Amino acid sequence: MITVTIIGAGNMGAALASLAITGGNPVQVLARDEEKAQVHPSAATGVVGDAVTGDIVILALPYPAVADVLSTYAGQLDGKILVDLTNPLDFATFDSLVVPADSSAAAEIATQAPASVVLKAFNTNFAATLASGTVGDAPTTVLVAGDDADAKATLIALVEAGGLAAVDAGSLRRARELEALGFLQLTLAAGEKISWAGGFALTK
Ligand SMILES: NC(=O)c1ccc[n+]([C@@H]2O[C@H](COP(=O)([O-])OP(=O)(O)OC[C@H]3O[C@@H](n4cnc5c(N)ncnc54)[C@H](OP(=O)(O)O)[C@@H]3O)[C@@H](O)[C@H]2O)c1
Repeated sequence: MITVTIIGAGNMGAALASLAITGGNPVQVLARDEEKAQVHPSAATGVVGDAVTGDIVILALPYPAVADVLSTYAGQLDGKILVDLTNPLDFATFDSLVVPADSSAAAEIATQAPASVVLKAFNTNFAATLASGTVGDAPTTVLVAGDDADAKATLIALVEAGGLAAVDAGSLRRARELEALGFLQLTLAAGEKISWAGGFALTK
């Protein structure tokens, strides 16, 4: 069991609250509006700016919102596992990412929160596949990248306890490839070539 704080209560925040609670973990959800934070009856709720209670903090936010939230919590996320699930698309063009080509959102976040242990995860999983546990006929698999083996093992255990598969995808440098995959998957769904309940699956 590990305490989890999810900042952001949209599609991903709600799916991840449910996943973590299914696995028996205490969950706190923080949103701008406390009513919106009520995504699961078993989750504690609050507003962004309230003290974070989780040892794992999941940023279930649009990438442009992350910097502000990190500055709100400056110093308060030190030592915690910080999970970045963003797909940092340029939504004006839908044709590129807003992070430098040789970097990633996760790497930028690690620079902004150097005393946290940053992991990239969930960005290649549409919210509906986290809830259903399947991508077509295949099980939903969460790819986890990061530089701290213990933190990755902790997040993988949390995902597995919630009933999904998870795979260690390598160091935080792999976040760049995960974000490229997430970007491609998003464009395929936006172009109606795949459904928002589908996407890439991993089979062993
Ligand atoms: N949806 C998916 O299937 C999926 C899959 C993989 C990755 N992702 C990534 O997951 C992240 C969240 O996606 P989502 O689909 O859950 O989005 P969403 O449903 O739009 O939810 C976004 C959440 O972020 C909050 N938020 C927005 N701007 C904020 C700010 N400046 N300060 C504080 N909170 C703010 C929103 O609060 P308000 O309600 O107050 O606006 C809402 O709670 C994105 O980075 C996306 O790229 C999504």
